[in-house]
Amino acid sequence: MTADNMKKAAALEALKLVKPGMKLGLGTGSTANFFIEALAAKVKKGLDVKCVPTSKATRDLAEKLGIPLTTLDAHPHLDLTIDGTDEFDADFNLIKGGGGALLLEKIVASSSAYMAVIADESKKVKTLGKFPLPVEVIPFGIKATAWKIERAFKFLKMESKMTLRVKDGKPFRTDGGHAIIDCALGEIKEPQRLDNLLNSIPGVVDTGLFAGICGIVFVGTPKGVKEFKRKK
Ligand code: 5RP
Repeated sequence: MTADNMKKAAALEALKLVKPGMKLGLGTGSTANFFIEALAAKVKKGLDVKCVPTSKATRDLAEKLGIPLTTLDAHPHLDLTIDGTDEFDADFNLIKGGGGALLLEKIVASSSAYMAVIADESKKVKTLGKFPLPVEVIPFGIKATAWKIERAFKFLKMESKMTLRVKDGKPFRTDGGHAIIDCALGEIKEPQRLDNLLNSIPGVVDTGLFAGICGIVFVGTPKGVKEFKRKK
């Protein structure tokens, strides 16, 4: 079974959470795209939902497929967000932002009554940190901000290797016009503490750490989709 088959199977399972009339957050990335395609098929058959996209790419795809869109300003409280992830652990902590949409993804997910994550089994880890942590920063004064980020890692006694994300030979820019520093950390033992500390640095817009936000993970495996649900 390919990773794509597992992602698709997880996406189809998550679709079962969607009920008529819901306001949904739509995630970003290849796994989220499988969900968006499956949702579009239901919309074509008459399902009534309104969706807030978490990136320009997701907006473009949803629009192309005829999914009704809305904004967080019109609907500040969403029922459900469905998104992919780069990593998840047994405590439902996530690292997101491999696709660069972490800021909008976090705003939308944290404005939702429930966040469902869809993933193939390669995304499951014992401890977060195999995937470099994306930290979104304001381009102004980026070296000074990077120095403070490094100092925060040292304060927490974490080894770090920081790389400015580059695309097509130029510094990558998010939909919000920010830069991303990818931080290879090895192991993140206290995700919430690290997130709080990094977010206290002027110039840091947000991090790809999602702690205490995700409620359920659907994981595609060769033996079918496994469901992990957080206890309230
Ligand atoms: C984008 C994300 C994605 O959800 C994450 O990178 C996973 O992507 P994919 O489903 O393509 O593996 O956080 O910012």
